[in-house]
Order: sequence, then C-alpha cells, then structure tokens
Amino acid sequence: MKLSNAPIKMFVNITKWILFMLVITNGQLLNNNNNNNNNTLENDNATAASRRTHQITTILDGLLKNYDAHIRPNFGEDPTKINFDILVSSFGPIQDMDMSFTMNCYFRQRWRDERLQFAEEVGVLSLSTRMLERLWRPDTVFHNSKYSYLHTIPTSNRLWRLFPDGSIWYSSRITVKARCNMNLKNFPVDVQICKFFIGSFANSAADIQYGWRLGNNNSVNFDTKVLLSQFDLIRFPQYDEIIDMNGRNFSMLRVDFVLKRHMGYYILQVYIPSSMLVMLSWVSFFIHREATADRVNIGVMTFLSLATLSFDIRNYTAAVSYLTALDWFVIMAYAFLLASLLQFAFVHYFTKFGYGEPLLRYQGSIDSFTINEDNGTTARDFKTNSSSCFSRSQDIHRKKSQTERKLYLRNIQYYLRQFWFCLSGNDSYKRALRKRASRFGINSRSKLDGFARIAFPLSFALFNILYWFYFLHLQR
Ligand SMILES: *[C@@H]1O[C@H](CO)[C@@H](O)[C@H](O)[C@H]1NC(C)=O
Ligand SMILES: *[C@@H]1O[C@H](CO)[C@@H](O)[C@H](O)[C@H]1NC(C)=O
Ligand SMILES: *[C@@H]1O[C@H](CO)[C@@H](O)[C@H](O)[C@H]1NC(C)=O
Ligand SMILES: *[C@@H]1O[C@H](CO)[C@@H](O)[C@H](O)[C@H]1NC(C)=O
Repeated sequence: MKLSNAPIKMFVNITKWILFMLVITNGQLLNNNNNNNNNTLENDNATAASRRTHQITTILDGLLKNYDAHIRPNFGEDPTKINFDILVSSFGPIQDMDMSFTMNCYFRQRWRDERLQFAEEVGVLSLSTRMLERLWRPDTVFHNSKYSYLHTIPTSNRLWRLFPDGSIWYSSRITVKARCNMNLKNFPVDVQICKFFIGSFANSAADIQYGWRLGNNNSVNFDTKVLLSQFDLIRFPQYDEIIDMNGRNFSMLRVDFVLKRHMGYYILQVYIPSSMLVMLSWVSFFIHREATADRVNIGVMTFLSLATLSFDIRNYTAAVSYLTALDWFVIMAYAFLLASLLQFAFVHYFTKFGYGEPLLRYQGSIDSFTINEDNGTTARDFKTNSSSCFSRSQDIHRKKSQTERKLYLRNIQYYLRQFWFCLSGNDSYKRALRKRASRFGINSRSKLDGFARIAFPLSFALFNILYWFYFLHLQR
C-alpha cells in the first residue's frame, strides 16, 4: 500500500507544483502584458510625435525641394506685396544736436509665397530662423537711418511663422537711429516732423510693393505711452507712395512723427531769467543820477549776466547759422539792456550841463573862483569852488576870450587838487561835498529818467506781446 501510495502522492505534489508554477507564470505573464500595454501606449505617443515630426520634415523637405531663394514669389507676374506694421516699444530720444531720433521697434513684414503652401490641417508652423535663411526674403531697408542694429542678445530677436497658404510672417526687433531734418527757426516754439522711410533696397515697384498691413494711420502702434522729455508726439500719419529714384519707381512707406516741443524748460531756463535781467536794469531809472557808479554797475552787471546765460543756451542747441526764436528774444534783451545803459549816458551828459537845475542861480560865481595855495582849505572855499565848477561850462560857451585860457588852466589845477583830495581821503572836502548836495538840491529827477520809467516797461511788454503772438501763431 505504501509503495502504491507514494507515486500518487508524488503525482499530486507534482501537479500542485505545476499548478503553482502555472499561477506564478500566469501572473508574470499578466504583469508582462500590462507592462507591454503601458509600453505600447508610450510607444504610441512617441510614434505619434515622431510621425508628426516626420510629416513636417517631409513637408518642409517637399517645400524646399526645387525652391529657389533667389527668385521672388510671383516672379514674372504682379509685384510681390509686402505688408508692414510696426510696434514701437520705445521712442526717443530726439536729438537736436545731430538732428536725429531713435526708436526701438518690432518690424513686422508679411508676404505670401505660393511655393510654400501645404496642407491646412498641419496648422501654422513656427520654425527656427535658420530655415528662413533658405527662403526668399524682401530686401527691406530704412532709407534715412543713420545707424541701426538687430538685437541679438541672448539670441537673434527674430521670429517667423509659416501659414498653410504660404504666407510668411516675419518680425524682428530693431533699434533705429534715423535722420530727422529739423528747421530750428522757431525753436523752442517749434513743431518738428521726423520722417521715417521704409522701402526696398534694390527692387523697384514692379517687383516689390509695400503697404501698411492695418491700413494707413493704423499700422504704427506704441507698446507704452510715449513720454519724451522735450517733445509731445502729436500724431504719426502713415503713407504709402511711389517715389522716382534715378528713373526707377520705388514703392516706399513713410511715417511722419509730428513732434511738438515742450516750452517749459526754456521758459524756466531762458525766458524768465533774461526778462528778469531786463527788469533789473530798470532799477537804474529809480536811482538818482549822481550815483554814476551804481547805475553803470547795474547796467554792466545785467549785460554780463545775460552774456553768460546766452552762451549757455547755445551749448544745448544745434549750431545752426540762422537765428532761432530764442536767439531773437535774447538779442532783444541785449538791446533793452544796452538801451538802459545808453539812457544813463544821456542822463549823465545832460546832468553835467545843467538841465534847468537850481544851480544856474550861481552863474556869476565864476569870479569868486579861488584856489587856495596854502593849506587853509575850508568848507566855505570848497563850496564856492564847486559851484563855479558847475557853471563853468556855460561860461566857456558864452565867452570866447583869453580869460577862457586862464580858466582852462585853473580848471586843470582844480581837477588835480580834486584828484589829490580823493587820493588822500580829505575829510573836510567830503563834508563840503555833502553839504553842497543838500543845499542846492542837485538830486532832482531827470526828465529822461521819468520818461524811461514808463517807456521801457511799456516797450518791453509790447515786444513780448508781439513776440509771443507771432511765434505761437506760427506754431499753429
Ligand atoms: C501603467 O503605468 C502606470 C504608470 O506609468 C501605472 O500606474 C499603471 O498601473 C500601469 N498599468 C498596468 C496595467 O500595469
Ligand atoms: C499619450 O497621449 C495621450 C493623448 O495624446 C495622453 O492623454 C496620454 O497621457 C499620453 N501618455 C503618455 C504616457 O504620455
Ligand atoms: C492719415 O492721416 C493724415 C493726416 O492726419 C490724413 O491726411 C490722411 O487722409 C489719413 N489717411 C487715412 C487713410 O485715413
Ligand atoms: C513711374 O510712375 C509714374 C506714375 O506713377 C509713371 O508715369 C512712370 O512712367 C513710372 N516710371 C517708370 C520708370 O516706371
């Protein structure tokens, strides 16, 4: 029995083992299947991507096959149309010194190349710019740029997209410094028009035609509000035009940036200071005429201050040879200062000869003219001396006799003495002068001064009205 049982037991054990093994392998198989499933999903995805890449590569290869980048689209037929628009990311500065303006923009061009059409369902392709090098591109230039550069850091700031219908959208970020011819005749009350020309370098209008993509007056846009230190950007109309250059018609785009200058800076820096200097010179009319030094000082000091001011102004404007509005103002301020100095010269001249002064009462005192050779210089002597001095000139005019010569010699002596007193700082002489002044009322107002007190402010006001009326009117 034992012998007969053993094989059965063994058989059962073996079957158990086999079953166990089967279960394990099945599990493993199941697991493998699952893994496989996951793998195949991933593979599916991978293959989908690669299939797509492959599809596009084939498309691009197909496009570039037989593509000649030297020949423009539509060759031999209508001109290729390039649609342009500009997004200005920063505008300025505008420099008077070298008559230029700078702007940083995204220049966007769009054109259509039928040779590059592909299936609609592939969608818009955004490709590396290296591919673009192998395609035809318009030779667009900025005709009046002085200096411009494409931003290349950290990478070349360009992008392009290919649309299924063969349209290409090409955008590049460029900083342009362009020439702007300025007429500074009305500076700083001026409006400047800075023109910007875009066109093809070599292709005439028969080959390439430019147009504004979003229509005239809408195709130049600003990223942010334009804030310039010296100007207001009023408007920027856009035009497309055909220009004849050397007998060939070229298609060209133009933007006119119309800029109006802020006056504030110049009003604070020039107009107010120079007007104040002119007003300061009028103070001279209210100082009595014997104060020669004071009045001459006021005149000369204001003149010199204005000179400093006007040299300073010329430093920050272009060195144009004609007179600007600002120069006119400064010149007129000079003229007013000069006039007030000359006015004093006249007042002084007439003061010397008497102008119906009370001093004339002492005409006859020439006879009492005595020169004290000895040291006994008293206040009384000086009094008579000085009064005779004032009437002296009239006597000279009247009598032309030999006493004139005598008088002349005496005068020289008198002046020498006066000079000596001045040098030695003679106190009694000074006292005598002071006494004389109060006694004879020498400090009477000159009629010329009275006239100038009204005439100068009035004429300056009139000049200002005319000046501002003329230039502000011109600005409009
Ligand atoms: C497939 O893989 C995911 C993770 O990638 C896992 O969570 C999931 O269990 C797997 N499926 C099978 C059937 O093994
Ligand atoms: C495979 O692609 C499908 C849809 O495209 C996505 O839902 C799925 O998560 C992707 N699977 C893996 C493993 O990437
Ligand atoms: C664009 O603006 C200018 C000046 O403002 C105007 O003369 C011109 O007619 C405008 N063009 C269009 C198409 O509106
Ligand atoms: C240029 O255009 C004008 C008018 O638009 C035309 O009369 C002239 O013949 C053209 N010149 C050339 C060289 O095509």
